[in-house]
Amino acid sequence: DWGMKAYRDESIRRIREQVGSEKVICGLSGGVDSSVAAVLIHEAIGDQLTCVFVDHGLLRLGEAEKVVTLFRDAYNIPLVHVDASEMFLGALEGVTDPEVKRKTIGKLFIDVFEAEAKKIGQDGTGIPAFLAQGTLYPDVIESVSFTGGPSVTIKSHHNVGGLPERMNMKLVEPLRELFKDEVRALGRELGLPEVFVGRHPFPGPGLAIRCPGEITRDKLDILRLADEIYLEEIRRHGLYDEIWQAFAVILPVKTVGVMGDYRTYDYVVGLRAVTSVDGMTADFYPFDMAFLGRVATRIVNEVKGVNRVVYDVTSKPPGTIEWE
Ligand code: XMP
Repeated sequence: DWGMKAYRDESIRRIREQVGSEKVICGLSGGVDSSVAAVLIHEAIGDQLTCVFVDHGLLRLGEAEKVVTLFRDAYNIPLVHVDASEMFLGALEGVTDPEVKRKTIGKLFIDVFEAEAKKIGQDGTGIPAFLAQGTLYPDVIESVSFTGGPSVTIKSHHNVGGLPERMNMKLVEPLRELFKDEVRALGRELGLPEVFVGRHPFPGPGLAIRCPGEITRDKLDILRLADEIYLEEIRRHGLYDEIWQAFAVILPVKTVGVMGDYRTYDYVVGLRAVTSVDGMTADFYPFDMAFLGRVATRIVNEVKGVNRVVYDVTSKPPGTIEWE
């Protein structure tokens, strides 16, 4: 893609000009935007860039390993992997309100990130001069919350907003002029693996907002396995790229079932899959029933603690994509 090759070269030139010999810190989430931003900036300024990946204990199965392997081992990008799961899960204990969950995670995330930034600063004293963000053009024009109407916050957004001012950092935002499909094209131009470039979006608060009610390690483990099976089946059937987002949720109720000759009393897993252009509106994905049946059977058979699976057929609006 000629356009993207030129864009990449021009971006690299501009990043070098903006940053000079200063240090840059980039919060890596494993998502497409921050990944592309990180690889691009690394091409421009090499090891003046340090990435920070905060594992809040609310990630999908194997996610932390995937990110660390890709960035540290495949790209050789200096990467700090912070395992903060104890801290986050501790802070979330007993929290059931969705907005309180979001705010708890958002606040802690900034604290953890700030602590890491201070360690990375010049000679371990100051902080890096620049914070890199994978802000896209739609974020720039639509600085209102992505789900919120003009004045109502439907869900508070989780990002490192507020951090640059608080820490007096300047921003590097090399994707500010791009739409999502262009970011993907740029990612390909930079040689990012297709599985990364084509990934479904994943929310900052992670599995916390896919686990209505209290978040426990038990429920998170069940959710991770169910989600993994669901996505594996979606990929196996070649449906992944037709879907904007697909994921499992775990409900805070148990229901009765029967397994062999025994009564079971276990959790319900909900499956969500939607098509969308920008996440603002969405339609539920019309799987065929045989597919859903197969996924349900696999989840109930393979995931201990689940005896019932339901499919969410709500579009957005009135439903949102995530359950919290
Ligand atoms: P909803 O649930 O509001 O989601 O229909 C719309 C899109 O936004 C994602 N989402 C988030 N992304 N931080 C994020 O980075 C968040 O706090 C957050 N909440 C929702 C959601 O996954 C969907 O793609």
